[in-house]
Amino acid sequence: MRGNDRPLDGVHLKRPRYRLVDGFRLPRGFPARAFRSALHYAPMAGDVFVATYPKCGTTWVQYIVYLLANRGRALPSGANLGQVFPHLEEVGAEAAEALSSPRLIKTHLPCSLMPFSAAAKYVYVARNPFDCAVSFYHHTRGFPQHYDFATGAFDIFFECFIAGEVDFGDYFDNLLPWHALRDSSNVLFLTYEDLRRDPAGRIAGIGRFLGGPAAAAAADADCLAAVVEESSFGRMHRDQARWSSQRPAGMPPFVRKGIVGDWRSTFSVEQARRLAAKFDERTRGKDAASLWPDILAGARSG
Ligand code: A3P
Repeated sequence: MRGNDRPLDGVHLKRPRYRLVDGFRLPRGFPARAFRSALHYAPMAGDVFVATYPKCGTTWVQYIVYLLANRGRALPSGANLGQVFPHLEEVGAEAAEALSSPRLIKTHLPCSLMPFSAAAKYVYVARNPFDCAVSFYHHTRGFPQHYDFATGAFDIFFECFIAGEVDFGDYFDNLLPWHALRDSSNVLFLTYEDLRRDPAGRIAGIGRFLGGPAAAAAADADCLAAVVEESSFGRMHRDQARWSSQRPAGMPPFVRKGIVGDWRSTFSVEQARRLAAKFDERTRGKDAASLWPDILAGARSG
C-alpha cells in the first residue's frame, strides 16, 4: 500500500463535479427525462437485466449475456455494446421498449428504484468495494467532460466514495438490498471475483439461469469455449471502442486492468481500514458480511 504523504496541490483538491436529479446522483451525460422515465419502465417476460453498482464488472457480464444469447458470435465489428444492450437510466423507458425481445438492459439502479417484475430476470454482479473504488476513480478521471476531474487525486475521490457521494449513490445502498434478493428465482447474484476465478463455470451458470437459447449455448462445449474466449480480458481490452465511445484520448481505457486486489497499490493503510470499518458497520448482522473475507481481513490489518 502506498504511504499517506502524497502532497495535494490546488488542482487535486477539487472534487469531481456531480449533479443531483430528484435527490439521486446521476452522470451529467444522462438526460433527467430518461432517468425519470426509466423508473416507470414496465419489464416484460424475457427481459434480462444486468444490474450492478458502477465499476463492478457490468460491461463484462453484459457481453457474456449478449454472447450467450447469440450462440457465442461476437458483436459485429463497428457495433457498440451500448446500442444492443443499453443503459436504462441513460436511454429511458421508450428506447428500452423499442428493443427486440429478449430485451437486454443494463442498470445501476438500487433496488428501491428498480422496476421489478417476476417475469424478468436480473443478473446482479458485485465486486469488493476496494477495487470498485479504484476503478471508479479512474472512470471518473476518464470523463473530464462530465466530472472535470482528469487530474484529480484518489484521496479526494475516496472521500466522495466512502461518503456515498458519487454517481448512483452509496455502494452499500446498492449492494445490500440486491444481496438480500439473491435467493429469488429470477435473481442471479454473482461476484466479479468468482467470475475471474472460474469464468467457464460461472458463465455456464449464467446460461442455465437465463434458460432457453442461452442455456443451450452454455451446454455446448464449443459454444461455451467461444463465449469464454470472446469475453476474456485480453479480447475485451483489445476492442475498447465497443464498450465506450466517449472516452477522450489519453484517458484510462474502459477495460483497464481487471485485477483482483489491485486496490493495494492505490489505497493508504488508513483508507483501507476506514472502508473496511464501513463494510463491517453496514453488513453487521447480515449474510453479506461474509463476502470477500480475505480481502476484508487484509484491509483491516493494513
Ligand atoms: P478495473 O478498472 O479494475 O480494471 P464496469 O463495466 O462495471 O464499468 O466495470 C469495469 C471494470 O471491469 C474495470 O475494472 C474493467 O477493467 C473490468 N473488466 C471489463 N471487462 C473485463 C473482462 N473481460 N475481464 C475482467 N475484467 C473486466
